[in-house]
Amino acid sequence: MVINDLKKELSSQLGGRDTELLISGLLKLTVTEYALGGKKNVSENDCNKILGAAKRIKNGEPLQYAVGTTEFMSLPFFVSPAVLIPRPDTETLVEKAISEIGDRSLSVLDIGTGSGCVAVSISVYCKNAEVTAVDISEAALETAGRNAAANRTEIKLIKCDILNGIPSGSYDVIVSNPPYIETEAIKNLDRNVRDFEPHTALDGGADGLDFYRRIAAAAPHMLKREGFIALETGYDQARTVAKLLEESFTDIEITKDLCGVERVVSGRLKNSEIISGV
Ligand SMILES: C[S@@+](CC[C@H](N)C(=O)[O-])C[C@H]1O[C@@H](n2cnc3c(N)ncnc32)[C@H](O)[C@@H]1O
Repeated sequence: MVINDLKKELSSQLGGRDTELLISGLLKLTVTEYALGGKKNVSENDCNKILGAAKRIKNGEPLQYAVGTTEFMSLPFFVSPAVLIPRPDTETLVEKAISEIGDRSLSVLDIGTGSGCVAVSISVYCKNAEVTAVDISEAALETAGRNAAANRTEIKLIKCDILNGIPSGSYDVIVSNPPYIETEAIKNLDRNVRDFEPHTALDGGADGLDFYRRIAAAAPHMLKREGFIALETGYDQARTVAKLLEESFTDIEITKDLCGVERVVSGRLKNSEIISGV
């Protein structure tokens, strides 16, 4: 079979865009190689891989899991059903952190790192930052480590249940895209999210705010003087999360994503809130 045969067979089932992402993703082709390489032979093994992945996509599995990779902040990331697929919305969080950190030698903590997309991107784009990433899931930490290596950078990985403990050390910056879906709302999510993405990455408790309450209360124990925090929120949660931060943080800002949705809440630790040695 040549690439054109596969294109023809799959585009009627998956559409042109997904067919391109699937074939070029699994055969590791550039956009030009995909566009001009229609007569290139595909080995039987690769053909079977592509057709198998196409079947999984038709059954509702997200394309990124079927291909095994995705792009975030213009960097490549491995993904598997053990981790949330990085979303474009989350680039707003990373950009907020990058503009705070710049080229300073700051210590950064990413809570709930998943694929490591936030931690690895900060580490790549802020060369002097020392990034630590925590997650409750060992599989997620493994993926984050793999993604750091693939992007030729280093991050420190710690297994930690943030609802019941905090990592040791103190940090200049905390970033997090925590689970924020209301438990009851999970069953109403799109099937490809609900049935394929890990529920530990989605479930934010009864009102979706469990992690924000916990992080707002625990952050003063983890941050250095005038430490900075930036949290991604669900589309309607930013103002509530800003209120949760008000007790211990000042200079609270809400940043919109590219779709104009209030997406990131940030702030700076009030001087009176430094609590050490917990
Ligand atoms: C919404 S996902 C975010 C993943 C990644 N940072 C991103 O933006 O794509 C939340 C992450 O929090 C992790 N998590 C869930 N409960 C946790 C807990 N109690 N302590 C630490 N991490 C937790 C999940 O395993 C998941 O990787």
